[in-house]
Amino acid sequence: MTATMDIPVTKAAHSKLEGLTLENIPFGKVFTDYMLEADYDNGTWSNVNIRPYAPLSLDPSVAALHYGQAIFEGIKAYKDEAGNAVVFRLHDNFKRFNISAERMMMPAVPEDIFVEGIRQLIDLERAWIPSLPDHSLYIRPFMFSSDEAIGVRPSEKYKFLVILSPTGPYYGTPMRIYVEEQYVRAVKGGIGYAKAAGNYGASMLATHIAKEKGYDQVLWTDAYEHKYVQEIGTMNVVFILGNKAVTPDLEAGTILNGVTRMSVLTILKEMGLEIEERPISIDELMEAYKAGELKEVFGTGTAATVSPIKELRYKDFVMTFDVAAWQVMPEAKRLLDDIRYGRSEDRYNWLVAV
Ligand code: COI
Repeated sequence: MTATMDIPVTKAAHSKLEGLTLENIPFGKVFTDYMLEADYDNGTWSNVNIRPYAPLSLDPSVAALHYGQAIFEGIKAYKDEAGNAVVFRLHDNFKRFNISAERMMMPAVPEDIFVEGIRQLIDLERAWIPSLPDHSLYIRPFMFSSDEAIGVRPSEKYKFLVILSPTGPYYGTPMRIYVEEQYVRAVKGGIGYAKAAGNYGASMLATHIAKEKGYDQVLWTDAYEHKYVQEIGTMNVVFILGNKAVTPDLEAGTILNGVTRMSVLTILKEMGLEIEERPISIDELMEAYKAGELKEVFGTGTAATVSPIKELRYKDFVMTFDVAAWQVMPEAKRLLDDIRYGRSEDRYNWLVAV
């Protein structure tokens, strides 16, 4: 297949869009009319097609359900005021998808299937991109092992799919975050840097316990000492310490190399902040808070975009923030949104036209 080749489309009988408003739909609950599909078997990709969104029929022995070879991505498409559709940093998510695939012993998805497939799918579904502030069309590419056998080994067969879901803000209000020190998300040598389905499955117990205590998410700490912060359940984390933006580095392979994370760091640098990617201990954060130096804390992620944190709790030490008085995060979010919604020049070539 080449980048110019048209992917075959099976037409849907009718559109689910009729009679639907795209405002404030809860995240991930409504799906568009079509999905992209491709199959891998023993070294070859085939069956690349776009067809009506529908349930899959799977054999109960299908390998992914037993041993968790499953990865995914989160990407967003936006519409500008003139109605032009764009996808944000599609190639960066494509690269990360295949980094996850390699770690999970899964085949790489070719660029023309991933990038061109998504472009053609969004082109078909452009009417589903909401043109409201903080709204977008969430793109969920995923792949799972599809051998029908329960032996523990990498599959010969895999299925790649892309589904789309119109979405508004993921976190409507500033978050309360609980610093986790009992359960762990990732260790050096593990799969923390991969967007593997199991990373999210393994996070749910700790998140549930934090939610019972009134928190929205946990901030993970390192597995050895529970001393260094890693990432939040669905986001990377950035701290504004004085005039520096400080965020955990990628060195240990224990956090996700977030596309929104890198975009926000680029924007913060453009705003004149010094950027530090390095280990950050919870002790350093508490000391900075006491000294009045910890000004802002926020999460970055595709679904979450840039989300303020109004409370960070470690043991009995509670750090609270007056989000309404913040200067840095709101400006960074505005500059990022201006690019995404076509209100300013795409000066970093982040947008892929549909
Ligand atoms: C994303 O931000 O795209 C994510 O995948 C996080 C979450 C929705 C699982």
